[in-house]
Amino acid sequence: MRILVTGGAGFIGSHVVDAFVARGHRVTVVDDFSTGRKANLNPKARLVRSDIRDTSLSRLFKKERFDLVNHHAAQLDVRKSVSDPLFDASVNVFGLINLLELSRLNKVKKFVFAASGGTYYGECDQPAREESPAQPLSPYGVTKLAGEHYVRAYGALHGLKFTVLRYGNVYGPRQDPHGEAGVVAIFCQRLLARETAFIYGNGKQQRDYVFVGDVARANVAALAKANGEAINIGTGKATDVNRLFKILNACHGKPSPVEHKPPRTGELFRSVLAVSKAARVLGWKPTVSLEEGLAETYRHICAERK
Ligand SMILES: NC(=O)c1ccc[n+]([C@@H]2O[C@H](COP(=O)([O-])OP(=O)(O)OC[C@H]3O[C@@H](n4cnc5c(N)ncnc54)[C@H](O)[C@@H]3O)[C@@H](O)[C@H]2O)c1
Repeated sequence: MRILVTGGAGFIGSHVVDAFVARGHRVTVVDDFSTGRKANLNPKARLVRSDIRDTSLSRLFKKERFDLVNHHAAQLDVRKSVSDPLFDASVNVFGLINLLELSRLNKVKKFVFAASGGTYYGECDQPAREESPAQPLSPYGVTKLAGEHYVRAYGALHGLKFTVLRYGNVYGPRQDPHGEAGVVAIFCQRLLARETAFIYGNGKQQRDYVFVGDVARANVAALAKANGEAINIGTGKATDVNRLFKILNACHGKPSPVEHKPPRTGELFRSVLAVSKAARVLGWKPTVSLEEGLAETYRHICAERK
């Protein structure tokens, strides 16, 4: 297949590119390197350095005749979305519409959209199912949800096939501190620098941490399955910050200082995703345990610092 991956030099997008390349697909990456890195790029993928909002991408679409667009480029810093919501909407909404228009005009067969289950569902007493009401509390959550609606509208209006993958908190090699599971990278960096790590509040805030290799496999499954569906991609398990730190500390092998700071206002207490639909519709299940995934992430961050 001829596949365009936007944001393919970023954390998750680069793992998705690797998975597609490994399966023999012809992959083009569009990335503006605002947060992405050359070092993440798969050498077998073709790179087009461009902003997703640039309408002259039409030349690339006409030439390459993509079968599938896999859309990972985004403004994903929640705090930035609060301080500059216009910029957030410009990348996450106008950028998306530009790609949807180009997909429609150039007869792309399918569009896969990276959405954010971690920011939609509010407090989760139980793992949130896809039909749970969405109540995003940040401009970032709002623009990702708007993105889902745009993708769905293009499906209904123009027959564009699509799959929406709603990720939990994705962690793994190549992640930086700014993503939704940024705490993993921050703890690793603190441990390696022998600096005090900070935990806000009592550290019992829970999230659904899903390993990036598993997320890449979900994108592979979405090449041919789950047309017209929005699907949670997580583990169904909630892990608190204290446990996360404990596991990373065990990877580090030396006791490290940790300090509690006052809780951050407005922070969710518990976010966790139900994943039975992913098993049913995509044939996908997470396979990497938190201990294995964190150990691999720690090793990778260690190696990068050498
Ligand atoms: N990291 C998570 O836990 C998480 C959770 C839910 C959803 N997501 C979604 O997954 C996607 C990838 O996230 P990530 O964590 O890999 O982030 P990332 O910052 O590592 O990757 C984003 C990539 O998009 C590129 N980019 C940003 N703006 C661009 C623009 N205007 N034009 C072209 N390229 C642009 C960046 O340079 C970067 O390479 C995003 O859509 C994000 O909303 C991430």
